[in-house]
Amino acid sequence: MASFKHLAIVTSGGDAPGTNAAIRAAARVALEAGVRVSGVRRSWLGVQSGELVELTRARLAGVVRQGGTILNSARTRLLMEPGDGERIASRLADQGVDCVLVIGGDGSHKGALALSEAGFPVVGVPKTIDNDISGTDVSIGFQTAVETATQAIDRIRTHTESNDRVMVVEVMGRHAGWIATWAGIASGADLVLIPEFPWNLETVHQHLKKRHEADHRDFSLIVIAEGATDTDGSIKVEARRTDHLGRPFLEGIGELLAWEVEQQLGFECRCTTLGYLLRGGTPVAADRLLATRLASNAVDCLLEGVSGVMVGSLHGSVARTPLAQVAGIAKPVDAATYRLAQRFF
Ligand code: F6P
Repeated sequence: MASFKHLAIVTSGGDAPGTNAAIRAAARVALEAGVRVSGVRRSWLGVQSGELVELTRARLAGVVRQGGTILNSARTRLLMEPGDGERIASRLADQGVDCVLVIGGDGSHKGALALSEAGFPVVGVPKTIDNDISGTDVSIGFQTAVETATQAIDRIRTHTESNDRVMVVEVMGRHAGWIATWAGIASGADLVLIPEFPWNLETVHQHLKKRHEADHRDFSLIVIAEGATDTDGSIKVEARRTDHLGRPFLEGIGELLAWEVEQQLGFECRCTTLGYLLRGGTPVAADRLLATRLASNAVDCLLEGVSGVMVGSLHGSVARTPLAQVAGIAKPVDAATYRLAQRFF
């Protein structure tokens, strides 16, 4: 008999394909164990406002292939201030909830840690297209974003080849260039620029000159992550606005680079920004499988009396990492992965 009576599932932070597959798997495993399951709407805001929806097998039918989150998500300051953990724990208890499963990225796991430190049973599931969360080789949504970016870059390549142009393709990846690196390798990009490794206009120039002059290639594809600023600080976008949490909007580095390549280097150059395309669409099978594996194991944790951890996929196995070793600990693109991309520039 399950030790818990009422599980609440929270989806928080940036939406990502595969989230619904995780909700479905967690709810189905918990329901099977005789645990009542509620979905919390709009991240932690729904706990505060009491917006909990009953999750049943009927309600979950078909969601495995749906993009986005049926619970809606939000970015919120809740669980960032001292005492928030206790307040949210109390609000959860008021609604009869005795354990929580959080599906989110780094910010969501900082909140999960605060809740856990307040003594409330919580387990995290890593979900972000950025793949910048420790404790897992890949996060839910990342593989779909890479597939979407790769297919888009393949399409852009036919245009670029046909017009002897240089095309800059900007992809998401706030602080880590995982999408740019993986999609760059998969699409045969001629240059991948990410926040983790140094570049400047001169290195771009040297590379383009070699391709267009020495190698007689008349087009080039550059993939750049939205947070990649050059080491000279000359190609750097000043944020024109911040979001409601005060985070600067990263927008325009791709257009700025295209302008510099054309004005300073003399190559005809355009830019395509993939942006929120990478957050949308139906999840690829790999993300559905990852979501099902991790979310099922997360509920198993709770049923075994294990909490205060995030489940992840490490070297092909499901790992359980204490939240304190995940929250706020970034996972930048490693040198070996970026070196692989560089071998094909
Ligand atoms: O965290 C995922 C992500 O898509 C980042 O790649 C991007 O910089 C950010 O979210 C955009 O945030 P928002 O959805 O709040 O505009």
